[in-house]
Amino acid sequence: MSIRLIFSAAILFGWVAASASEQDVRNQIGLGALVFSDNCIKCHQLDGYGQEKLYPSLRDPKLLADKERLIRAILHGRLAVGEVAESEGARLMPRLDFLTNEEIVAIVAFITNSWGDEVIVVSEQDVQNAR
Ligand code: HEC
Repeated sequence: MSIRLIFSAAILFGWVAASASEQDVRNQIGLGALVFSDNCIKCHQLDGYGQEKLYPSLRDPKLLADKERLIRAILHGRLAVGEVAESEGARLMPRLDFLTNEEIVAIVAFITNSWGDEVIVVSEQDVQNAR
């Protein structure tokens, strides 16, 4: 095999590997859109803007750059702050830890791709660790 052939094979292989992972990301975003519409839009709405005073907008670049915060919010919900938090069962956002690791990875990919500065692909292990 000539050097040139090895070289082009390496480039071709690299290209195939890159496009396969791009396809993975696209699949995750697609799954994320479905899981989001089943579990999140009733509060945060299809466009992610939420509903004033009740449900916050997810279109916040700082929030969408913080993968730990996103994973934690989805798994554990959000408690109210201050006095309300001390009253029984005050949990403004329900915990959604019945979602699988794969589904949560997909939601994070979907919302960061839709409204963040860049798509964030966390690993299923990241989600597992936060459970
Ligand atoms: C029953 C309504 C409800 C549902 C369903 C719901 N949320 Fe929320 N969500 C809320 C409320 C209310 C807050 C604000 C809580 C607070 O004030 O801290 C919130 C906050 C958040 C935050 C911001 C957390 C932070 O750190 O600021 C994220 C991210 C989020 N939700 C994502 C989701 C995703 C993704 C789903 C679907 C998997 C979802 N939520 C489903 C009501 C909901």
